[in-house]
Amino acid sequence: MYSKQDQSKLNSQTKTFLSAIVIDKTELDLLRKVLVFHEWRYYVLNEPLISDFEYDSLYKKLEVIEKEQPNLITPDSPTQRVSNDLTSDFASVPHLVPMLSLGNSYNLADLQDFDTQIKKIAMLGEGDDVAYSVEPKFDGGSIALVFENDLLVRGATRGNGTLGEEITNNVRTISSIPLKAVFSNHNIHKAELRGEVLIQKENFKKINSDREQEGLSVFANPRNAATGGLRMKDPKEVTKRGLVAFIYQLGLAENENGEDQLKKMKSHAQGINLLGSLGFKVPEKQSKLCKNIREVFEFCRMWEEKREAYEYEIDGMVVKVDSLALHEKCGYTSHHPRWAIAYKFKAKQATSTLLNVEYQVGKIGSITPVAKIEPVALAGVTISSISLHNEEFILSKDIRIGDRVLVERAGDVIPYIVKSLEDARTGEEQPIKFPSNCPSCATELIKLEGEAAWRCPNYTCKAQVLQRMIHHVSKDAMDIDGFGKSYVERFYQMEYLKTLPDIYRLPYKAIAHLEGFGEKSVTKLQAAIEKVKNNPIQRFLYSLTIHHLGKKVSKIIAENVEHVLDLQNWTEEDFTNLKDVGPVVSKNVIEFFSQEENISMLKEIEALGVNLTQTEEDKPFQVSEDAPLSGKSILFTGSLQTMGRKEAQEKAAKAGARNVSAVSSKLDILVVGEKAGSKLKKAQALGTVQILTEAEFNELFAAI
Ligand code: IVH
Repeated sequence: MYSKQDQSKLNSQTKTFLSAIVIDKTELDLLRKVLVFHEWRYYVLNEPLISDFEYDSLYKKLEVIEKEQPNLITPDSPTQRVSNDLTSDFASVPHLVPMLSLGNSYNLADLQDFDTQIKKIAMLGEGDDVAYSVEPKFDGGSIALVFENDLLVRGATRGNGTLGEEITNNVRTISSIPLKAVFSNHNIHKAELRGEVLIQKENFKKINSDREQEGLSVFANPRNAATGGLRMKDPKEVTKRGLVAFIYQLGLAENENGEDQLKKMKSHAQGINLLGSLGFKVPEKQSKLCKNIREVFEFCRMWEEKREAYEYEIDGMVVKVDSLALHEKCGYTSHHPRWAIAYKFKAKQATSTLLNVEYQVGKIGSITPVAKIEPVALAGVTISSISLHNEEFILSKDIRIGDRVLVERAGDVIPYIVKSLEDARTGEEQPIKFPSNCPSCATELIKLEGEAAWRCPNYTCKAQVLQRMIHHVSKDAMDIDGFGKSYVERFYQMEYLKTLPDIYRLPYKAIAHLEGFGEKSVTKLQAAIEKVKNNPIQRFLYSLTIHHLGKKVSKIIAENVEHVLDLQNWTEEDFTNLKDVGPVVSKNVIEFFSQEENISMLKEIEALGVNLTQTEEDKPFQVSEDAPLSGKSILFTGSLQTMGRKEAQEKAAKAGARNVSAVSSKLDILVVGEKAGSKLKKAQALGTVQILTEAEFNELFAAI
């Protein structure tokens, strides 16, 4: 339909329109062409080149101009019809009731406008309340199901809203759709239901990783995997996708004589309850009947917060007037019902261009490729740098410089590149050439067996030294209050910091004269540095940046060594004899302590006053054999009132108990806080577990 050249031209025109704030009316035709092209990519190919948000913003621009000057509207404008996913692969069937879209809202003000409109139609005053049924806006593929004589007789995609694609055989493979439902008990002979076909997020991840392994292109999101699944030619293949259908609307209900039965129902919620009772998967638990629009907004916000934790992808909420009598009064526009509106969440995906790749050197020398992309706003933040993790990631996704890339930022997760959009390539894109030498010190990079990252093996590499110093002062390591990354970088640049010992001999007088510093801040910094000199050695060991030596093993080693330098004499066995200390980390620690320059560096640090001797805090607490809970396993459940969970566990451990995480026949004691649930029931059922209240647990210690 479109040649490669046409596509790349339309794609570059998209970028111009996206960046333009207002669009001239003379450019209208081109904007329409661009929109029609993206509709084709989305609905026909199922391979969008731009995000929904970007499409919406272009569509809105067109709508604004057409609204201001209706004489400019053409009959083939994308605004003049509902979108289309028809292909010739499936037979077209007319929907019994047209499948319309929804109007959109993005904030409280939009929702209030909608509410005002409804009140006007209902002839209510501003002070009156309208009740709304609010449910998730599932982000999958819409379907229409027809039931006749209690049997599923037809399934169809939305198509262009009037005609859909007949996909009955595929729909019949979806286990959450009953093939028979006794509508007849409710005097309904013929019904048309609306719903959304989805894929669980976990399942989606698996589908994509399988596809990646098979060398197939990955789906951009669960929606594409679901809509693609619905339209597969072989129903057996559809089963493998694990599709799920939520039914959210009863569109038509007629008795034997063709009389409308919906009229007999009072509310949308009642319709949903009926469908639920007939065996359909309905958004009952996920929805709420809200008293007024404020409550609607709060419910929408609540879902926006927990969106990421929900097992299905949702892109907003749908707000529906609950009263069906009021639906009738509201009616429809050619595009959407006036009694409903979508509340859209912030977009999670956007497209951008990969401009360049930079290589960062980490504290243990790992080289991380970082993509520099054209800045793009996503879920409220502007993103211009994204980690590409390692060479393997780049190769498996075939990402090239100049590529259009699909970027995702879900909740608090760091942004990542989902895939590059191969079809947007012009031929100018360049493969990413991973360096063979360190970008900082030019040493040849190495790759250790079983590791994904290339590493610079030069311990004195300047970039690594800097990163190690940043780690040394950080919260989890020495925790020097107020000494952050920016100070380290600044002092490093000024050559006050060249090696780790320099941290403990900073030229405070000179620093006091630097811009942004003064006597007071320098005194504070000096006090913070003095303070950490007395840190327990577990912190010090962790601060040294020895590959694989994490906080936990640092603590174990600290418990077993009197002075840090004693480790020079430790053998591999000495290390691996300790519980939880493996051979890899042992080898790395031995290697570190076998190097002369490291030993002299440690001696230098010690001479500067830093403690390298085991402190009380390093020592394991000794549990005497007569400790009250000696040898017992213990578990806390429910919410504790007098202490936090961690505190309780520490208390139990000090009393000789072993904290476990599950109820089993091996559990000795279960301490129950408020609102204890299944764990308590299970323990009671076992009959062998001693069950203590929080007060009883505390009493055990009162005697000590
Ligand atoms: S009601 C006439 N409810 O959102 C009623 N739609 O742009 C209109 N969608 O493609 C639909 N979840 O498939 C409704 N709980 C929900 C929905 C929902 C997802 C989809 C629907 C349509 C799109 C509207």
